[in-house]
Amino acid sequence: MTQNTTIPSPILLEARNLAKHYPVSQGWFKPRAMARALDGVSFTLTPGKTLAVVGESGCGKSTLARQVTMIETPTSGELWMDGINIADASRATLKQVRPLVQMVFQNPYASLNPRKKVSAMLEEPLAIHTELNKAERSEQAKAMMARVGLRPEHYSRFPHMFSGGQRQRIAIARALMLDPKVIVADEPVSALDVSIQAQVLNLLMDLQESSGVAYLFISHNLSVVEHIADEVLVMYLGKCVEQAPKKDIFSRPLHPYTRALLASTPRIDPAQRQQKMMLPGELPSPLAPPPGCAFNNRCPHANEHCRLQIPPLRPFEGRLLACHRVEEIS
Ligand SMILES: Nc1ncnc2c1ncn2[C@@H]1O[C@H](COP(=O)(O)OP(=O)(O)OP(=O)(O)O)[C@@H](O)[C@H]1O
Ligand SMILES: [Mg+2]
Repeated sequence: MTQNTTIPSPILLEARNLAKHYPVSQGWFKPRAMARALDGVSFTLTPGKTLAVVGESGCGKSTLARQVTMIETPTSGELWMDGINIADASRATLKQVRPLVQMVFQNPYASLNPRKKVSAMLEEPLAIHTELNKAERSEQAKAMMARVGLRPEHYSRFPHMFSGGQRQRIAIARALMLDPKVIVADEPVSALDVSIQAQVLNLLMDLQESSGVAYLFISHNLSVVEHIADEVLVMYLGKCVEQAPKKDIFSRPLHPYTRALLASTPRIDPAQRQQKMMLPGELPSPLAPPPGCAFNNRCPHANEHCRLQIPPLRPFEGRLLACHRVEEIS
């Protein structure tokens, strides 16, 4: 186990250049190709704050979530949790660190075991990771149910007896049982009815205020992000193209991709909820990213330079940006 004394204390979790490349078979007699699903993303999470990760389908958001929650091992880069480099941590240290990062998935119909009652789902993490006896576990589960807005009679029910919003409350309660420092929420309200989305978002925000948990909040929906984020990281083809405080992203998006995302995003308004992104062209394949800037084939400002050179992620006006032409177009 290595302690990093250079990380200042408010940083809970740090991703340094995280990458995940998946080998993909291309058929008989052809060499395996590498899908660069995640291609060098860095950020920090601090207590009580929400970093939102946005980008269209296939840009690598869930791949990032699987690295941060330690479900997978990154191809390269480092993940630091509480000053510990996960790659160097002993088994015993990992056992302590893993429960500090919990995950809430998109689909509460699939993520909850249909054969387990709420009581079992909430008490199981305590049985595995704590010394609490049955009565104490039950008491904590009931207290958590109250915190997430579930009623006492829900304790002995199975998941199929709940609505989508209630199921997501159960999933959130389960994620909170071990008092994690970080919750990675991968599209946690996307499967819910719009009228329920705001309730679940407000619950997440209330829980953050009372517990100080940090969220890595993944969403393709910018109107949801506008509600909950402190900071926004915009991903394109496995890379960060822009990262800035929420107000800057929404009041003055600078990267042409961020602008396109915002221009095509409906606000929280049921009448508009089916609107799709109106970006021209498709996200290129992570198997064969275009040379130069990955966005160049869809960007109205791209020139020869953009088609040849990968733009580095660099500080610009209080944010991070990867665009050769931002000085001219901003
Ligand atoms: N196990 C895998 N093997 C090969 N390719 C993969 C694997 N997992 C993901 N990918 C590829 O990596 C890219 C990123 O996928 P990912 O699921 O992370 O995207 P996403 O941003 O979460 O998309 P969505 O918004 O649809 O959930 C996609 O092109 C996907 O096909
Ligand atoms: Mg995903």
